[in-house]
Amino acid sequence: MNWQEELSSTIDAGLKFREPMSGHTSFRIGGPADVFAEVGNMDHLEKLVSFCSSRSIPLLIIGRGTNFLVSDKGIRGVVVRLCGDFAQVKFHKADGGISQCRFASITAGAAVALSRLSRLTAQRGLAGLEFAFGIPGSLGGALVMNAGAGSHSIGKIVDAVEVIAYVGECSCTPRSNREFVEGGSVPALKVRLIHKDELRFGYRWSNLSEYICVTKAHLRMRSNSPEETVKRMKMIFQKKKAEQPLSAASAGCVFKNPKGMSAGRLIDECGLKGARVGDAQVSTQHANFIVNTGGATAADVLNLVDKVRATVKESIGIDLELELKVVGYND
Ligand code: EPU
Repeated sequence: MNWQEELSSTIDAGLKFREPMSGHTSFRIGGPADVFAEVGNMDHLEKLVSFCSSRSIPLLIIGRGTNFLVSDKGIRGVVVRLCGDFAQVKFHKADGGISQCRFASITAGAAVALSRLSRLTAQRGLAGLEFAFGIPGSLGGALVMNAGAGSHSIGKIVDAVEVIAYVGECSCTPRSNREFVEGGSVPALKVRLIHKDELRFGYRWSNLSEYICVTKAHLRMRSNSPEETVKRMKMIFQKKKAEQPLSAASAGCVFKNPKGMSAGRLIDECGLKGARVGDAQVSTQHANFIVNTGGATAADVLNLVDKVRATVKESIGIDLELELKVVGYND
């Protein structure tokens, strides 16, 4: 019995074999994952993580696949997308706050779509996530990379995050598709609640990437009028829609903004809007987006990334750093 057969006999979850990742990424690019698992409850998730750890099988949690470029060769190991129980949202009663400021907390699963969470909370008059409407990822992915827009970011409203972690410090923790558990005993897993004071959020970064998987989060939101909150959410979205290619196949912004600058503006100033490699194109609307105009491959995107980087470095002397996560290449 190979490990894939063993896995299907161990876990009764939605497993797909040799599943093309182009169907699970917003770029619509990517070769097959050995196993693609849609996991709807904690029991299945814990079994799957234990199975992979004990056999040194790479495990990658992809959220909604909106910030990934997957290799044309695909991904070895198991790719997990959370659903079911992990897509629930619970609203808790508002507590009394300082002067007119009242707060309410919500608990949301890692698989909840960020846009949905933004709309649901705004409609209930809970402010804090208006900026997130139109950001295509899941809450889990947004927390790990501290998704944001303008001066807002998700990390600012987090009270606590539930994760799956290894017990104790373990230098062989597999943190990405490319790292493996190397020999030795299999570390035990536990579900942990990480409180705000242990969490670190930076620009498109958080220390949540140190854990195996984010499963849910407790967010603290400000009570406000639903009309006002929805109006603000719509206003922010209209601006975003006018400036960014939201309906095109892309993975959002490709590069991080260098300190005090906009990567999009720098790329635009280098005359790169519309530049192409195969079917990958620098968006003519916002230069920090690469769009798949039809049949782009991961190799096309990477070649275009190299071209953009080299041109910006040569013209302006700035090294652009990738925000996009590239997976599956080192296999
Ligand atoms: N600009 C250009 N040409 C372009 C793009 C932008 O001249 O092709 C100019 C704009 O006119 C504006 C300035 O550059 O004056 C800044 O542009 P924008 O407001 O679009 O902001 P940004 O810095 O390019 C950041 C985030 C976006 C987020 C927007 C809106 C990063 C890398 N990007 O973009 O986040 O939606 O602000 O708040 O931090 C993402 O992370 O995936 C993302 C899309």
